[in-house]
Order: sequence, then C-alpha cells, then structure tokens
Amino acid sequence: MKISMIVAYGKNWEIGLDNKMLWHISEDFKNFKNITSGHHLLMGRKTFESIGKPLPNRTSLVLSKTGFSHEGVHTFSEVQDAFDFARANGEEELFIIGGANIYETLFPYVDKMYLSEVDFEGKADAYLKQIDFSSWDLIEQKDYEAILEEDKIKSPAWSFKVYTKKD
Ligand SMILES: NC(=O)c1ccc[n+]([C@@H]2O[C@H](COP(=O)([O-])OP(=O)(O)OC[C@H]3O[C@@H](n4cnc5c(N)ncnc54)[C@H](OP(=O)(O)O)[C@@H]3O)[C@@H](O)[C@H]2O)c1
Repeated sequence: MKISMIVAYGKNWEIGLDNKMLWHISEDFKNFKNITSGHHLLMGRKTFESIGKPLPNRTSLVLSKTGFSHEGVHTFSEVQDAFDFARANGEEELFIIGGANIYETLFPYVDKMYLSEVDFEGKADAYLKQIDFSSWDLIEQKDYEAILEEDKIKSPAWSFKVYTKKD
C-alpha cells in the first residue's frame, strides 16, 4: 500500500488558524475530492473536528489517544493499526490529510506528496514542517492564477505539485 500526503500550505508553510483553513480555493477543493475519492483518509482528531463529518465516498480513519468517536469514522490510537485496517480493506493508496501534528509524525512513511502551494502569507497557528525537496522528484505541476472580485483577491494564486520519493 502506497502512503500519500495531501496538503495546502502558504509561503511560510502555514496550514491553519483556529482549526480552520486559511483560504478558500474551490478548484483546490475539487482537486482534493477527485484525488481522494474512493480511498481511505487518515487524519488527526482535530482535523476531523474541523471538517465535522466523514467525507462522502471515502473511508475516514481518525487518530486519537483520548477515546474520540464519531458516527461513520474509524478511530485508532496507534498509527500502525490504522495502516493495517486500510491494508486489510484492500487500499492501494492511503491519504494522510493532516493536520500539522499528523503530517509531522507520519512524514517518514510518505511515498508520494500532492502539494498545493498557495500564494498566501498571514496569521496562522498550524504549520507544515519545511520539506527538503532534494530527496523528492517533481512529477507533475499545474499553476493557477488568482481569482479577483472587484479588484480584491477572492481566491489566491496557487500551484499544484506532485512529488514521489527518490529511491
Ligand atoms: N492546509 C491543509 O491542507 C490542512 C489540512 C488538514 C488540516 N489543516 C489544519 O491543521 C490544523 C490542525 O492540525 P493540528 O496539528 O492542530 O491537529 P491534528 O494533527 O489534526 O490532530 C491532532 C490530534 O491527533 C491525535 N494524534 C496525533 N498524533 C497521534 C498519534 N501518533 N496517535 C494517535 N493519535 C494521535 C491527537 O488526538 P487526541 O488529542 O484526541 O489524542 C492529537 O491531539 C487546523 O488548523 C486545520 O485547519 C490544514
């Protein structure tokens, strides 16, 4: 089973504030849905609470050591148990979808990264640990322009990049 990570981050590696996203980019949401549909998603308890419900057409696996439970999700206190569950269900590509804590802990397991680099700088309280790209190959990139409304940025510019780990 391949382990992938999917994340959107700003210029200073910011990913969230007050357990919410920092921007609204509808194309990025669509992309996230397309990429992750049909797969198992692994997330931290806080990220699940921020989303608030299991995402349709996907199997939500939540990591928590405090006995969290919610209808429609599978909770695990050990990472390996979550991996084993997805594997036993026939998953071929598991997606780690955050947040900060989970990205950092599980980064050593990641084989493939789907990154949205957002042209955003601002207040945040959750950050991605800086990635050293020297051990990764860029296999895909698409750049998107900002969307303006009455001369104000409605949705910032962003680049979608896919990396695989070098052998
Ligand atoms: N920009 C993006 O792409 C993106 C994506 C996802 C999330 N986010 C943002 O990230 C922020 C949330 O990140 P966060 O770091 O605060 O929280 P988080 O990683 O979502 O969740 C942390 C929680 O996960 C559980 N956990 C962590 N490691 C564990 C382990 N090894 N085993 C079992 N359980 C474990 C613990 O839950 P218990 O306390 O219950 O034990 C911990 O409190 C929010 O602002 C959110 O909007 C951004």
